Amino acid sequence: MFITFEGVEGSGKTTQIQNTLNFFRKAGYEPVVTREPGDTKIGRKIRSILLAPENNEMSSLCELFLYEADRAQHIFEVVGPSIRAGKIVLCDRFIDATIVYQGIARGIDKNFIEKIHEIVVQDIKPDLTILFDLDFKIGLKRTFKALKNGERVLAETRFEQEKMEFHQKIRNGYLELAAKEKQRFFIVDASLNCDQVFEQILYGIRERIGILK
Ligand code: TMP
Repeated sequence: MFITFEGVEGSGKTTQIQNTLNFFRKAGYEPVVTREPGDTKIGRKIRSILLAPENNEMSSLCELFLYEADRAQHIFEVVGPSIRAGKIVLCDRFIDATIVYQGIARGIDKNFIEKIHEIVVQDIKPDLTILFDLDFKIGLKRTFKALKNGERVLAETRFEQEKMEFHQKIRNGYLELAAKEKQRFFIVDASLNCDQVFEQILYGIRERIGILK
């Protein structure tokens, strides 16, 4: 079982993945929690290149290939083996992030990205994708607050520093993908409080994949 979590910056995925993990544990499961980019030793190095604000001269193609390099290693080391072992995998971002950020927002041809994915991810596809939908301005406010509190680090803010227009494209892009694949996506209203968001996630998991009943 492969569940991915997607959304704009500051939409609360990290906290809710932790809540979901705890809930699965109470129900007797032991999911693998992972993320892109940066869940492997090599991936952590790639993540620091990708998210460092000083790398603002990075070309869109360089960015795309770094995400795909991270993903290839992630699938090889973590996602592939976990799925083959029959585990539940909870993953913070996956291929939809590339389609939205590098495809829709940066403008790289979607067919080209899909061709790369055919090679990189092969038959691994999320069974369920939980989309945290939120006004990007609220998300950015939350991220800057987290930066002040020390919950986030300045070294990972290259995307937060993008223009408003970029962030709007991300939100709209995710909603477009969700509208195209209604069976796979479950949209939660991430503007609600933490408990209410978590209630929606549990409802989505129960309704769509019939576990945690
Ligand atoms: P996060 O760990 O805070 O979600 O940060 C990861 C950043 O990387 C976020 O801004 C989204 C971006 N991203 C892409 O642009 N393309 C991708 O394929 C992935 C996985 C993430």
